[in-house]
Amino acid sequence: MTQTQLRQNVSLRPYNTFGMEAKASYLLEITDEEVLHTLCSSPLLQQQRRLILGSGSNLLFTRDYEGLVLLNCLKGIEILEEDDNQVMVRAASGEVWDDLVRYAVDHGWHGAENLSLIPGTVGAAAVQNIGAYGAEAASLIQEVQGISLQDGREKIFSNRQCLFGYRDSIFKSFDPGTFFITSVTFRFTKAGSPNLTYPALAEELQKEHHPSPAMVRETVIRIRGSKLPDPTETGNAGSFFKNPVLTEEELETIRKKYPDIPFHKTEAGYFKIPAAWLIEQCGWKGVREGHCGTWPRQPLVIVNYGNATGREIDTFAERIAASVRKKFGMELEREVLTI
Ligand code: EPU
Repeated sequence: MTQTQLRQNVSLRPYNTFGMEAKASYLLEITDEEVLHTLCSSPLLQQQRRLILGSGSNLLFTRDYEGLVLLNCLKGIEILEEDDNQVMVRAASGEVWDDLVRYAVDHGWHGAENLSLIPGTVGAAAVQNIGAYGAEAASLIQEVQGISLQDGREKIFSNRQCLFGYRDSIFKSFDPGTFFITSVTFRFTKAGSPNLTYPALAEELQKEHHPSPAMVRETVIRIRGSKLPDPTETGNAGSFFKNPVLTEEELETIRKKYPDIPFHKTEAGYFKIPAAWLIEQCGWKGVREGHCGTWPRQPLVIVNYGNATGREIDTFAERIAASVRKKFGMELEREVLTI
């Protein structure tokens, strides 16, 4: 491996959208699969704890990372097969997710448009099963290819083997740094009806007869822009917490005390409560303390207004979770990985 690929004592600030300062003992740029195989046979690097990093858009660094950061720089999008109805596309895991969405939409293919502008890479999209506006990456993913960093073996996971759930997959249960996703195969369709199950999206597009993927993409980008902070301007990692998921019994109990609590039923028959509402009810909407705050239009997003440290953000988030626990007796599980 070349010197440009392996660096020591590297600032991670450019590699996380929260804009946190933290140093990695080592950082290795993974530019091709060969580097991964070399890594597997390097005793020095095998001894290090490892963190696989895509765009760093779902991470909070609260301290330096004593170990090896593997920066995913794998690139490439290729059509594997295509017929009149559908197309199979393999994208390297280091591709920017939204570049893939734009590629699909530019071809007129259906499926990814609701997931426009979600920050992150293709690999992270699979790990995290990213979702927005009524769609999830899991419904497009055919298989996930990767390499075990313990023995260098290549492995393919079918969609079913990925065990996708709400912002969840089998990859999250692996020891971090043991399995490196190299590419993901997606299936897009050439015709289809727009997915307008999300009320805000349906409302915006109600006048359109049969909106194209490009129109849906444009609308999603507009809605996101009006609600969510742009990480290139204000440091953040999207939703900081997941929306709590309750059983019907749990929902009924909480509704006795809070009859106005909003919820929506999931396909699996559970009930999702918007964490944004819980946070707002606890008085945290638009609160700013020092360099930390909740975004005024979407309090589920915690922002770094300037020079917040990871510890400050971490404490701020913990105080929000404690308020929700106290008032509603509900646990807010973090969507963001805290390191
Ligand atoms: N709400 C409030 N106050 C607010 C904002 C929202 O009470 O200030 C309540 C309302 O009841 C609203 C509900 O929250 O109807 C839902 O809000 P929103 O549509 O903004 O979506 P969300 O559930 O808060 C989820 C995802 C987002 C995704 C949006 C749109 C999670 C954790 N977050 O947020 O994903 O963009 O839906 O589909 O599931 C991310 O994962 O990083 C992310 C940004």
